[in-house]
Amino acid sequence: MADIDLDAAARNLRQVRSAIDGQKILAVVKADAYGHGRAQCARAFLAAGADFLGVAQLGEALALREEIGPGPRILAWIYAPGAPLVDAVRAGIDVSVGSFWAIDELAAAAKITAIAARIHLKVDTAMTRGGFNLENVEEAARRIRGAGELFDPVGLWSHLARADEPDCGVTEQQIERFEQARTAAARGGVVFEIHHLAASAGALWHPATRYDMVRPGIVLYGLSPEPEVARAHDMGLRAVMTLSAQLTVDRQVPAGTGISYGHTAHTDRAMRLGVVPLGYGDGIDRKASNSAPLVVAGERTRILGRVCMDQFVVPIPEHAQAGSTVYLFGDAAAGLPTADDWAAATGTIGYEVVTRLGARVPRRYHGTGERCE
Ligand SMILES: Cc1ncc(COP(=O)(O)O)c(C=O)c1O
Repeated sequence: MADIDLDAAARNLRQVRSAIDGQKILAVVKADAYGHGRAQCARAFLAAGADFLGVAQLGEALALREEIGPGPRILAWIYAPGAPLVDAVRAGIDVSVGSFWAIDELAAAAKITAIAARIHLKVDTAMTRGGFNLENVEEAARRIRGAGELFDPVGLWSHLARADEPDCGVTEQQIERFEQARTAAARGGVVFEIHHLAASAGALWHPATRYDMVRPGIVLYGLSPEPEVARAHDMGLRAVMTLSAQLTVDRQVPAGTGISYGHTAHTDRAMRLGVVPLGYGDGIDRKASNSAPLVVAGERTRILGRVCMDQFVVPIPEHAQAGSTVYLFGDAAAGLPTADDWAAATGTIGYEVVTRLGARVPRRYHGTGERCE
């Protein structure tokens, strides 16, 4: 069971608000709100004062519009040629463009719908993923301006590649290129209303990247963009997801017993073992085998042996039995391992730990995001 605390989600958004300087906040809810539930988290973030919602794919944006209704601003930034931009414009989605074909297709959609498309021009400043090269920004702006009423030019934006490494210098270079893009856009005849560059790490650790709006994702879910720079708990963030299960088996085994596929672990003494009904079919990383931390009946322990598709084995204390609750991760303040701890144990990042949680794990929602201070 994944318990999702929407009041914690809202509190995290307010925590971000208190750390910045009055900029707008675009709450990122892509990939089913990093596995937490898109519609529920979106509503909580809006209740807590988010100015925009952001998703990656156009399809996610259209689904989100259905879920939350007309009104709240939604930005989407990933789609391929031939995507349903007519539907997006009709749904009032803000659309990012990072290629000339995208400008042309968005203009065509605006013409068909007779609705001005809200456009955010994306420039690549070092990520080397999507976005216009700097040298094409002026021409892109010129085409946007040339389309006249077809476009409502809302945003000029980019994405930071190494904001989680505060001293590496790349962020400063990206700011410089972003400034050059702003000048180039103005030369092309467009002054955008909102400039946005920072995700969580930029917003928190590089104040100069905040511009008019920040786009936090991971911190809203109570995890750190880089625990080695700052742990979530120390930044006043609260984990939104708590993952738990009930033991299905309790048993006593002698010393020297091989555990799970491949017998990659053996008991070093006679001990009690429990079985947890979660596995890689639920998004539990197989690299958690013999490593990831847990709390069973109030005591810290670790996975023993290999994670299977549907279950894994864990040493349990005397007082634990079938039916006892096992916590995989949750909030540090509750004495639980965090998703960031799981990431450290499995060689990944907290983002992946929560986002990869499978559809087979039920989500149970608590709170609304509306009544927290
Ligand atoms: C364009 C963009 N903005 C913002 C975010 C949010 O990033 P983070 O979760 O690090 O805050 C992402 C996530 O990868 C993104 O792709």
